[in-house]
Amino acid sequence: MIKKIGVLTSGGDAPGMNAAIRSVVRSALFNKLEVVGILRGYDGLINDEFIELNHRSVSNIINRGGTILKTARSERFMTEEGQKLAVEVIKKNKIDGLVLIGGDGTYRGGNVLFSKWKIPCVGVPCTIDNDLNGTDFTIGSDTAVNTALDAIDKIRDTATSMERIFVVEVMGRESGYIAINVALAGGAEDVIIPGEKLDYERMCHEIVNGNVRGKISWIIIVAEGKAKAHEVAQEINQRTDLETREVILGHVQRGGSPSATDRIGASRLGAAAVDLLIKGEFGKAAGIVADKLNIVDFETAVRKKEVSFDGLYRLVKILT
Ligand code: F6P
Repeated sequence: MIKKIGVLTSGGDAPGMNAAIRSVVRSALFNKLEVVGILRGYDGLINDEFIELNHRSVSNIINRGGTILKTARSERFMTEEGQKLAVEVIKKNKIDGLVLIGGDGTYRGGNVLFSKWKIPCVGVPCTIDNDLNGTDFTIGSDTAVNTALDAIDKIRDTATSMERIFVVEVMGRESGYIAINVALAGGAEDVIIPGEKLDYERMCHEIVNGNVRGKISWIIIVAEGKAKAHEVAQEINQRTDLETREVILGHVQRGGSPSATDRIGASRLGAAAVDLLIKGEFGKAAGIVADKLNIVDFETAVRKKEVSFDGLYRLVKILT
């Protein structure tokens, strides 16, 4: 029987983490559960860094980026010794279940806690990369696309004014989600993503041909998991002799106020995670597929996501 739960955020922060914390806390309280926050992810769990959470502690955070619980990538939790300490802390604090908010690293940690140490825990998908199985959507990815889009719109102003080629690198680890979506929404001329061939010959041929017809500015989006903006820009410059600039959008994509989509998703998924704990469905993660809640176990959620962006990729090229 679950009476007291803990909630933590772990791994890279994502816009909407706070909205997810709010949902977990208020759903738990609605169900008469006690809820505590664990600071700094698995590191804070090992170090016994707990804070009391009540209805008011999560007031006015639904619109805030980052995470009020802080987050970290814990090396110690990867070790048997770190895990043992974490389990002792959970027992000492009489925590009956944990809600883990984060991405694949967070879920891997959850899987170890559940399958090896028998700690009841559930997951809420929260990463800008949108690379988890069992969900179409991860909290933060929509805001990240919009943040990158805003930057690309601005880059377009200078690209067209100065008639240059811009290579813009976006985050996403091995996933091309941000890159393909921002390329489509931003009207990029080309996009380089995992799963699609990086064909410099074709790309430079198109650039040179366009140049002859008077099209001088280009925006090429690169997913960080496929290539580096610097190398792509250099290669294009060497092959075409056209002036090229590179931009790495970086961590700006992780910040900012979450979009409505991320806030709504976070509210639904946080509540769904608490329901899972109450129902005794441990070792599982909540997700959304075709706008409906979908539940998968941690192991499935972290398997390499087989998603094809072929259709969107072709569309980017058709619309160029
Ligand atoms: O997983 C989220 C993410 O922002 C990735 O897109 C990126 O590759 C990575 O984290 C960066 O991690 P860090 O903030 O540790 O440099």
